Amino acid sequence: MKEVCIDINGLTVAAAVDDSTTLLRFIRGAAGLTGTKAGCENGECGACTVIMDGKAVRSCLILAAEAHGASVTTVEGLANKEELHPLQQAFVDHGAVQCGFCVPGMLMASKALLDANPTAGPEEIRAALGGHLCRCGGYKAMADAVRDVASRKPQQ
Ligand code: FES
Ligand code: FES
Repeated sequence: MKEVCIDINGLTVAAAVDDSTTLLRFIRGAAGLTGTKAGCENGECGACTVIMDGKAVRSCLILAAEAHGASVTTVEGLANKEELHPLQQAFVDHGAVQCGFCVPGMLMASKALLDANPTAGPEEIRAALGGHLCRCGGYKAMADAVRDVASRKPQQ
């Protein structure tokens, strides 16, 4: 077992983990944040996506020990106490949330994209969401929601 400390949504979470504990399991277990979804746990669906040190990553592919000292944002870190994050609100406004299972990963991939490129265009949005699986088929509404926020960014 190894003691690991990870900053998650601005709070330090420390726990002893074994060599095979993934960042996904650390987030859902030690940190108790179940918004990050466990889908394939094999890097193929995108449901477990979080932002680690500014980049969207699939947390099922990263060992918790590898994330020691990192700064991680999960879907719970998007909204403030007063209101939803603009991306979350846009997903609601565009009817992009059906069962919701894929949505945390889609949101985190979208946030990482817009943090790096606030005026991302359709191709960049498609690329950022590529490889994220939505069994409800909500791809167009999600891409429209992200484009909506990207188009607003310069006025903010
Ligand atoms: S659960 Fe990580 S990519 Fe599917
Ligand atoms: S909204 Fe159901 S899997 Fe995407």
